[in-house]
Amino acid sequence: MYPLRRNRRLRTTEAMRSLVRENSISPNDFIVPIFIVEGKSIKEEIASMPNYYRYSLDMLKAEIKELWSLGLKSVLLFVKVPENLKDNAGKEALNPEGLMQRAIKTVKDVCPEMIVMTDVALDPYSKYGHDGIIQNGEIVNDPTNVFLAKMGLSHAQAGADIVAPSDMMDGRILAMRSLLEEEGYYNTGIMSYSAKYASAFYGPFRDALDSAPVDLQNIPKDKKSYQMDPANREEAIKETLMDIDEGADIVMVKPGLCYLDIVRDIREVVDVPVAVYQVSGEYAMLKAAAEKGWLNHDAVMMEQILSIKRAGATMIASYFAKDVVKLLS
Ligand code: PBG
Repeated sequence: MYPLRRNRRLRTTEAMRSLVRENSISPNDFIVPIFIVEGKSIKEEIASMPNYYRYSLDMLKAEIKELWSLGLKSVLLFVKVPENLKDNAGKEALNPEGLMQRAIKTVKDVCPEMIVMTDVALDPYSKYGHDGIIQNGEIVNDPTNVFLAKMGLSHAQAGADIVAPSDMMDGRILAMRSLLEEEGYYNTGIMSYSAKYASAFYGPFRDALDSAPVDLQNIPKDKKSYQMDPANREEAIKETLMDIDEGADIVMVKPGLCYLDIVRDIREVVDVPVAVYQVSGEYAMLKAAAEKGWLNHDAVMMEQILSIKRAGATMIASYFAKDVVKLLS
């Protein structure tokens, strides 16, 4: 008698499907990226990221309250730095009264329980748009680490719960962890962008922060000397294990959808939470296709988020977080 197993039995009704479902999405899964600008009463849409905005600090307050009311409990802050404050060494990034430092305090003021994560990186502060300090045309590793550790400390001092270095210098986690410990910030977490690829999917983000590498002679035109080669898989494991050894509490794979094999590989070898960053280009692609009526926005969005979960993500940084959670409720 054939078939002995009829797999469709468990797919007959939604109740049945939900009974056997292996993965699900909840507000607990998300980190919400937020873009912040100087000024007052600003909520400006990012051209290449429809329905995503940059907020001035006064406008940020309402947004934070709304996120919390939706059950979204962690944010990842990025700042757009005025051109006149950019240099090669990130001096403004260490300003205790800088935009990031004020943003951290603003979030904690309106919502003390909100988990505040911060982007620790030079590029928004760099006049060259790079994540490292440039000397003689080279992105120098160790001097950049000294800077990054100080930047992480500055965010911790302003009240950040978790600092998130997104640069891909070697040894920056150890530098940051050591300084945080020395200064008594032993409870500040580090979420390391461990396997961050040199991806073309970051385009809209660089529009949002005006942080693209500049086109100048003797300056590298791309980030391939520090971000990972998309061709590599084994190397992602090496990078991630090294960051854990150096003291990372959470590791990250970035981008998301094209790199779900990496997410699974890493999930299987590490014993710390794995974050996945579904990046700006992934967001922009779906928005554009949906605008043309070529894809069902909500259905594709849910499928993508679920796929990232299924691949092994403990948490997902996504520009869709709010849309997803609204749809869930
Ligand atoms: C830079 C940084 C980038 C992103 C997060 N942090 C861009 C880059 O590396 O050039 C990209 C995020 C996104 O595309 O959504 N430190």
